[in-house]
Amino acid sequence: MRRAFWRGRRVLVTAGPTREHLDPVRYLSNESSGAMGWALAEAARDAGARVTLVAGPTGRPAPRGVRTISVVSARDMLAAARRAARRVDVIIGAAAVADWRPARTARAKLKKGRAAPFLRLVPNPDVLATLARAARPGVRRAGFALETGRLIAHAREKMRQKNLDLIVANSPSSLGGARTRAYLLTPDGGARAFSGTKRALARLILTTLEERRD
Ligand code: CTP
Repeated sequence: MRRAFWRGRRVLVTAGPTREHLDPVRYLSNESSGAMGWALAEAARDAGARVTLVAGPTGRPAPRGVRTISVVSARDMLAAARRAARRVDVIIGAAAVADWRPARTARAKLKKGRAAPFLRLVPNPDVLATLARAARPGVRRAGFALETGRLIAHAREKMRQKNLDLIVANSPSSLGGARTRAYLLTPDGGARAFSGTKRALARLILTTLEERRD
């Protein structure tokens, strides 16, 4: 990584899961630990960047020297990330945003009653796609693709749809652990296989973004 490139750059990272509440005590969510987003925020900070981390509930302490904004739902994440994205140079979506939320969130705890409730879901906004679409031309944009099949093809399609400079394709086996296997794909057809720690992957992601030609 070239420190000269990162010094003073403003970097936004989304991380962790989101929670979509059915009522005050129940929610839909996923297994994301936030480890990858934390590794990215710390790597960018160590390289001299000014980092904002918008994170869903992970239980992790905020990284030292990183402005960390805690959110719960996808809509909260979008609102916080949008505000933070106004003046950034790099956007990295590492959050596992829930794609759907319950159509209604009950204010009081749902009681058992007789019949099981029917759960109607509505789509959540796509945080990264929204930010990438609104970004100034020079802003570098990266995201992840979590796939259980046709990894490369699906990831390339997501990179195109979300208007990204880099997508990191991986499978659910990467969730939670410190190590991960992934492919780094770029719009010019580039593909690079990676296997190692999330810290090392974070550095490789930043290096790849740094190499992008404007
Ligand atoms: N993402 C996001 N907001 C969403 C969904 C995804 O910001 N509502 C971001 C993630 O942070 C990640 C990328 O988009 O960087 C891809 O996420 P992924 O879950 O792999 O894909 P989806 O777009 O949700 O598509 P699908 O679930 O159909 O595979």
